[in-house]
Amino acid sequence: MTHHAAHAQPGVLSDPTTFAEYLTFTLVDTPPANAFADVAGSIVGIEKSIRQKDPTSNLTMTLGVSHNGWSRLLTDHEMPGELAPFQAMSDGDRTFPSTAGDLFCMIKSERMDLNYQAAKYLKQALSGVAELIEDIQGFKYLDNRDMIDFVDGTENPIDDERAAAVLVGHEQPLVSGGSYLTVQRYVDREELWDAQTTEDQEKTVGRTKMDNVELDDDVKPAWAHNAKSKVEENGEEVMMFRQNRPFGNAMEHGTMFVGFARSPEVLTTALRQMIIADDNGDYDRLLDFVEAVTGTNYFIPSRTFLDQFVG
Ligand code: HEM
Repeated sequence: MTHHAAHAQPGVLSDPTTFAEYLTFTLVDTPPANAFADVAGSIVGIEKSIRQKDPTSNLTMTLGVSHNGWSRLLTDHEMPGELAPFQAMSDGDRTFPSTAGDLFCMIKSERMDLNYQAAKYLKQALSGVAELIEDIQGFKYLDNRDMIDFVDGTENPIDDERAAAVLVGHEQPLVSGGSYLTVQRYVDREELWDAQTTEDQEKTVGRTKMDNVELDDDVKPAWAHNAKSKVEENGEEVMMFRQNRPFGNAMEHGTMFVGFARSPEVLTTALRQMIIADDNGDYDRLLDFVEAVTGTNYFIPSRTFLDQFVG
């Protein structure tokens, strides 16, 4: 068992829910003094009031703060040691853009209507502090599939292994119980994806489509997504926890990549392995079929940290 002095925000560790809503805010030019108290108070208050309308909805609101957001709102608090802006990356015709975001809120629950209501209240509550620049509604598709029709999240850590992968430990008291988050919104290139045979799609992901079984090493290509995204250090896998959800509709759709880790290094390493072609020219083939349109890094402070701001 891992013990953490501070309590994590519950949405960090819980499984992805049926519905999720992802809000990205940028700060206004001159936020009022103590604006972070408004932010923390709004998150905690709105979560409580909406959740109690239907406790079975399991609604949680998880707040993230980017490097820019922290340096402007939390000047009296030391910056989390590894919080850095998302670095854009590119190789060949593949790009990971770095996009704006000072505050991020992930709303999770079993009810899309309650998520929407929470989003609406938060936008109103933060109107003098931050502007809502993106609002993406995600949902569980079939048996946790992405809209490229493969099951997503299978190899995620669970229970204690999840907590160990995701939460900063008490050896870093200022940030313990917190987590680092990378968010990227990807849009599917549906026609290209659908033009592949099922067998080629399976090689691209590294798993079978219907049964969701990992391909054997002798059939799995070096460029399979689950080969390129897996990070190892001294022969040990370094884990992250992905809470991806698909979003969109028949006209445009894709995946919200929502990856948590106790150190952002695993996220950055995975992204580099995916996008940069290796000596054999191999990169993550999935990137031929999906396009990253956003990219932002956040720190997810512990609930204990937020509570000090809540009256
Ligand atoms: C459109 C974007 C993406 C889609 C559709 C997608 C989809 C998938 C699918 C279907 C799997 C296999 C099942 C599973 O274990 O979850 C998988 C595995 C994985 N993905 Fe992604 N993914 C995307 C982006 C990313 C990104 C950006 C990262 C890392 C920064 C990432 C990291 C991983 C990892 C670590 C695994 C597990 C590998 C293993 O140990 O088997 N994915 N993804």
